[in-house]
Amino acid sequence: MKRTINNLAVFTEGSPEKKPIVFVHGFPYDHTMWNFQIEALKNDYYCITYDIRGLGESYVGDGQFTMEAYVQDLFSIVKELNLDKSVLCGLSMGGYISFRAAEIDQSKFSGFIFMDTKPGADDNTAKLKRAAAINQINTEGLIPFTDAFVKNTFADISLNEKKELVEDTLKKSYKHNPVGVKGALIAMLSRTDTTNFLQKIKLPSLLICGSFDTLTPPTLMREIAGKIPGSEFAIVPRAGHMSPLENPDNVNDLVKGFLERRIAGK
Ligand code: MLT
Repeated sequence: MKRTINNLAVFTEGSPEKKPIVFVHGFPYDHTMWNFQIEALKNDYYCITYDIRGLGESYVGDGQFTMEAYVQDLFSIVKELNLDKSVLCGLSMGGYISFRAAEIDQSKFSGFIFMDTKPGADDNTAKLKRAAAINQINTEGLIPFTDAFVKNTFADISLNEKKELVEDTLKKSYKHNPVGVKGALIAMLSRTDTTNFLQKIKLPSLLICGSFDTLTPPTLMREIAGKIPGSEFAIVPRAGHMSPLENPDNVNDLVKGFLERRIAGK
């Protein structure tokens, strides 16, 4: 079911009586990034996905977004849907939103799944890359930027063996409004560093990383997991930065196992 909350396109699947899971997608993607997970989980969980402001079907407006506004968007969905103790699952940019949401108020949730992401803010190199990306979109248009960025998020094995998946993903990313894409880049650039908060996470947490993820590599994510008390860490084979798309069966098994062991009944 699709609805609009706070100018955001929000999609729900499954029964609202079941444990809610909110999925927050990465950049430059949309809610359909989670289709494989929703298919696997919708019979047992109330699955909520949405398009982050500026992307997909959500409102673009003037494209002036910040990470804080993105987090408030997430809380507006939690509030409007009356979600009690949902599990929060974010990939990459969705993970940035999730780390900050946890820091602001972890009592709203019952657990966290952080996929191919990190709590650190952009360093100088990353800031300059964001500036170059915005310049490229302004001067060459969205497509060349998207081509290079999206291909970099997939493992070579996926680029070679899952051409249709990569093409479909690219086609969706081409459709974004460039104003929204640039707004998302600035929002990511504006995020704070939540590393010091990790030790204060009190809820069950699962960290998942594609074995070939070059943007947030397994060594980094293992280190992050080491800072979250009682967390679990898993490496997904045959996947890069887009592990839930590239190896959905493995990711779904990990997520289901975590939910059954650590979340059921909470
Ligand atoms: C993402 O997958 O969301 C992006 O790689 C995040 C980023 O550009 O920092």
